[in-house]
Amino acid sequence: MNSLQDFQLKTEEEYREAYRKSVEQPAAFWSAIATTFRWKSPWTDVLSYDWSIPKTEWFIGGKLNITENCLDRHVETNPDKLALIWEPNDPNDATVHYTYQELLIAVCRFANGLKNQGVKKGDRVCLYMPMIPELTIALLACARIGAIHSVVFAGFSSSALATRINDAKCAVLITADGSFRGDKVIPLKAIADEALQTCPSIERCIVFQRTFQNVAWEEKRDIWWHDFIQGLSDTCIPTEMDAEDPLFILYTSGSTGQPKGMVHSCGGYMVYTAYTFLNVFQYQENDIYWCTADIGWITGHSYMVYGPLACGATSLHYEGIPSYPKWNRFWEICEKHKVNQFYTAPTAIRAIAQHPAKLIEDYDLSALKVLGSVGEPINEEAWSWYNEHIGGNKTPIVDTWWQTETGGILISSLAGVTPQKPTYATQPLPGIQAALVNTEGKVIIDQEAEGILTINHPWPGIARTIYGNHERYKATYFSAFEGRYFPGDGALRDAQGNYRITGRVDDVVIVSGHNLGTAPVENAINTHPSVVESAVVGFPHSIKGNALAAFVVLYDEVGASEEITSEISNEVRKQIGPIASPDRILVVAGLPKTRSGKIMRRILRKLAANEGEALGDISTLLNPEVVAQIKEVLAKE
Ligand code: WTA
Repeated sequence: MNSLQDFQLKTEEEYREAYRKSVEQPAAFWSAIATTFRWKSPWTDVLSYDWSIPKTEWFIGGKLNITENCLDRHVETNPDKLALIWEPNDPNDATVHYTYQELLIAVCRFANGLKNQGVKKGDRVCLYMPMIPELTIALLACARIGAIHSVVFAGFSSSALATRINDAKCAVLITADGSFRGDKVIPLKAIADEALQTCPSIERCIVFQRTFQNVAWEEKRDIWWHDFIQGLSDTCIPTEMDAEDPLFILYTSGSTGQPKGMVHSCGGYMVYTAYTFLNVFQYQENDIYWCTADIGWITGHSYMVYGPLACGATSLHYEGIPSYPKWNRFWEICEKHKVNQFYTAPTAIRAIAQHPAKLIEDYDLSALKVLGSVGEPINEEAWSWYNEHIGGNKTPIVDTWWQTETGGILISSLAGVTPQKPTYATQPLPGIQAALVNTEGKVIIDQEAEGILTINHPWPGIARTIYGNHERYKATYFSAFEGRYFPGDGALRDAQGNYRITGRVDDVVIVSGHNLGTAPVENAINTHPSVVESAVVGFPHSIKGNALAAFVVLYDEVGASEEITSEISNEVRKQIGPIASPDRILVVAGLPKTRSGKIMRRILRKLAANEGEALGDISTLLNPEVVAQIKEVLAKE
C-alpha cells in the first residue's frame, strides 16, 4: 500500500502531471491519496456535488476518526517521535515537549473527561484559550469523541465570544485563568465570565490554570482542568465519524453583520490539509516545522495541528509574540530548535524588518529550508527583506493563498520544486481549478489578465456550509458567479499562469493578517449614542498592510471631541476586540452617498488613502459637497 509520502511531488514535472490528473480525473486522483489514511470503513463514492444547492461531499460513506490518523497511527510506528514542541512566552521558562505517545494520552484523558460530562458526538464545544499545548489537546479531544470544536481567538472581546458561543449553542466552554502575551497578562476567565452572562447554552466551563491569577468562580459551572482530568483513563476509543460529519466550526468575518461559522468536514479536510502540508512545505521525516499563527485562526487549525500531525510531523508552537522580550525572539527560537520550515505572516515580517538587522545576524538560521507567508498579499519590499535577511537569498519562499473557507492552501508554489515569483502566490495546487472572471461573470480567456478569482471545481477541504445558515453560504460564495466558488479576492495572472492576489473585492479588510468585516465595526461604532452613522474603510499601512479608518457623523458636530473618539474606539474594542479598533476616527459632516442612499465606500477608500485627487466624477452623488468637507477634515489630521 502507498503511504502519503509517496504523493510528495519532487519535481516540476511531477507537479504538472499531478495537476493534469487532478483535473482530468479528480475522483481517482483524490481517492488514491485518501487511501493512505486509516479508515474504519471505506467510502462508496468519492465525490458528489451540486453547487447550485450548494452541496459538496467527498469520500461518501467513509468512516474514520481524524485523531486516529493524527495520533494512533504514528504512535504505533514511532511513539517517541515529537509531535509538539512548545515555547512559552517567557524565554526563561522551560520548553515543553510532547511525543506522539504523550499527546495521545493527554488527548484521551481529556476526551474521557468530556465524555463524563455527557458531551456527545455533534455537541459544540467552545475553546477560548491561550496558545498552550492544552489548546491542541482540547481540540483533539473534541475530535476524538466527535464533538464539534469552535475555537474563538483569545484576543476577541467578551461580546464577540458570546456571539460565537450563542450562534453555535455550545454546551461547554474551555478557557484559562489568564494568558501571557509579551509583558501583558490577559484575564481570559474574567472576559469569559462576562460573556457567559448571556450564554444560556453553556453548562460547564473548564479552566486551565496558566497565570495563577485570582478568578471569580461559579461552583455549579466552573471546574479546573487539573480536577477535570483527575484519575481518568489514558485510553479512549475514538468515535466513528462519517467523512462528511462536521469536525469543527471556525468563525470568519463577513462583509455584513454576524460572523460566519464555517463548518469543516472530517474526511475531506483531513486529506486536503495533510496533502497540501506535505507538498507546499516539502516536509521531510525529521524536520522541525514552525508556524507562528494562533490556533484561533484557520492557519493554526490546518497548519499547526491537523495537517502536520496527520503527516506525523513535529510542529512547534509558540505562546507569545515576535517582540517579546526583544524583536529577536523568532530567530532565537529558530536557532534553538533548528527550525526547518518557518511559516508566518507579512505583517510580522514588516514589523520585524523595522528593527536592526543585528537582532537577526546573531542567530544561526542555517537549518531553514523553507519560508512561508500567509494571510494577505506580501508586498515586494517585505518579500525581498524576508528572502535576504531570513532566507539568505537561497531559501525557497512559499506565498500561500487560501482562506478559512477553503480549509487549506489553494494557490502556492511547492517549496524548491515549482518556480516562485515575488508577490505572486503562483499556481494552483493539484485539484484546484482556478479561473479569472470579469464583473459580468465571463471567464477571461487571455492568459495575462486581471479579474476576479473563482474556483470551478470542488476540492476536499472546502467548508461545507455556514453553521445554521446555509442560505448565507450559498449567497456569499456560490451566487455571484453560477457554478463557481467566489472567494472574494481579485487577482492578476501573468503570461506563465501565475496568480498574484490583489486584495479583497468586498467589504472585508485584512488588518495585520486578520480578516475584519467593515460592517461589524460600523455596527459597533453606531451603538454610541452620539453617532448618527459611520463608514469604515481600509487604507494602506506600512506594517499592518491595511488599517481601518472610520468616518463618523455625529448628531452634534460641535460636540466632536477626543472623549467621543476614544469612547467610540472603546466601543469597538468591547464589542469585537482590540484588533478591530480603527487607527483613524474622523468626525465628518456627512458621508458621500449615491442617489439611492448607498454609502460610496469607494470614494472614502480613496480619500483615506490620500488619493483624493483621483476620485473621478462625483457629480452623480446625492451630496457631492461632503467630499470637500471630508478633505478639509483630512487636511487637519
Ligand atoms: C487573504 C487565512 C494574498 C485573502 C489563511 C483571503 C491572502 C483572506 C493570502 C483569507 C496570500 C490570505 N496572498 N492574500 N498569500 N493569504 N490572503 O480566512 O484576501 O483569515 O481571502 O484565511 O486573506 O483570510 P483568512
